[in-house]
This record gives sequence, structure tokens and C-alpha cells, in this order.
Amino acid sequence: MAARVAELPAELKYIQYEHSLESQYLPAIRALISKDLSEPYSIYVYRYFLYQWGHLCFMALDPVDSSLIGVVICKLEHHASHSPPTRRGYIAMLAVAAPYRGHGVATVLVKKAIDAMAQKNADEVVLETEETNIPAMRLYERLGFLRSKKLHRYYLNGNSAYRLVLLLRHIDPDGHEDPNGAADLSLDDMDTAPR
Ligand SMILES: CC(C)(COP(=O)(O)OP(=O)(O)OC[C@H]1O[C@@H](n2cnc3c(N)ncnc32)[C@H](O)[C@@H]1OP(=O)(O)O)[C@@H](O)C(=O)NCCC(=O)NCCS
Repeated sequence: MAARVAELPAELKYIQYEHSLESQYLPAIRALISKDLSEPYSIYVYRYFLYQWGHLCFMALDPVDSSLIGVVICKLEHHASHSPPTRRGYIAMLAVAAPYRGHGVATVLVKKAIDAMAQKNADEVVLETEETNIPAMRLYERLGFLRSKKLHRYYLNGNSAYRLVLLLRHIDPDGHEDPNGAADLSLDDMDTAPR
């Protein structure tokens, strides 16, 4: 395994995914994500997300050679069957190359994804993560995500997961926004400074 870098090389480039970047970055995105996640995804899963919600996908690139260092992939859907109807953002995949971990790269990526979902009027952002994934749990809980459910033996490897939720907007059962609720949450108020 490559050695962990003591400091990031320089200011990383953070860019939003777009279709014209597919041939340049999709192979690297697949390689980076499949390295650590317990679920193997086919290329169709990546395309499902990237074709529809590429604007909710962000990449961290090496400033020198533009190689991929980190990526977050999300979606945003309207759930009309929820009461009240909900616009739910979902963080599907997140990975940072092992040598670059622990410097806040994932925090920046997740924050950008949340900002993009909030701009598209998401009411909440949800995800699942393995209960043993301490770095991911720390990162998300530091950003304000709460544990909403424990999912026993959720993954193929038999590990359990937590569903985590970040409320961006408080909606009461009658469908009215609570002006004193989570709508006032500002990501800039949270401890998200890159290290
Ligand atoms: C989870 C992951 C994306 C985090 O990336 P990162 O760039 O290192 O994340 P950040 O530096 O922004 O934050 C990581 C947090 O975990 C902490 N952390 C890292 N390794 C840790 C460890 N072994 N034990 C405890 N805490 C740890 C960091 O200190 C930091 O928390 P802090 O800011 O409160 O100090 C990265 O570890 C990864 O790619 N893992 C494999 C894929 C994965 O698990 N994805 C998440 C699926 S939901």
C-alpha cells in the first residue's frame, strides 16, 4: 500500500463531474471506489448515478497531473409517497485514495455535495455506512448527521450499518416549514475546515 502523505501536495482541485469527463475519469472513479467498499458495483450502477445526477458528483484532483484523489457520488429524488412529500438527497459512494486520507478531503467533497443538494431544495440527506467505519462515522457526525436507524447485517459481508440523516429543512406533518427548524443550518457553521 502507498505511504500516507504527511501533508497534501498543494491546494487540491475540486471539480463537479460532467459527462464530457467520463472517458477520462470513470475508470479511475470505479477503481477508487471498488478498492475499499464492500459492495461490488457494475458500470451500470455508476452510470445510473452519473447520467442523472452528475452535478451532485464532485472529484478531488491532484493539482499537478489532475489524477483522481477523491470522489463523492449522490442522487436527489422526490418521494411523493412520503407524508409530507420529501426531496431526499442520498450519498451513494465516497472514497479518498489511501495516501491522502486524514486531511479533510472527504469533508470538503461531502460539504460540496450537501451544498449542491441544498441548492436543489433537498429537505434531507441520507446515507448508509458500516458501523465499524470509524473515519466515515466521525466525518458524517461532525457534519451534523444523526443516526436514524441501525440496519442489521446490511452488507454482503454480514456487517451492520447505520442509516445517517442530515436534516436541511424541518417540515411539520402539515407540510409547513418551521422557520426555527433545521432550515437555518449553515454548513459554514460546522467544523469543516480542511486540514
Ligand atoms: C471515509 C473516507 C472517505 C474519509 O476520507 P478522509 O479524506 O480521510 O476524511 P476526512 O479527513 O475528511 O475525515 C476523516 C475523519 O476520520 C478520522 N479518522 C481517520 N482515520 C481514523 C481512524 N483510524 N480512527 C479514528 N478516526 C479516524 C479523521 O481524524 C477525521 O475525523 P476528525 O476530523 O474528527 O479528526 C476514507 O477513509 C475512505 O475513502 N475510506 C474507504 C471508503 C469508505 O469507507 N467510504 C465511506 C463509505 S460510507
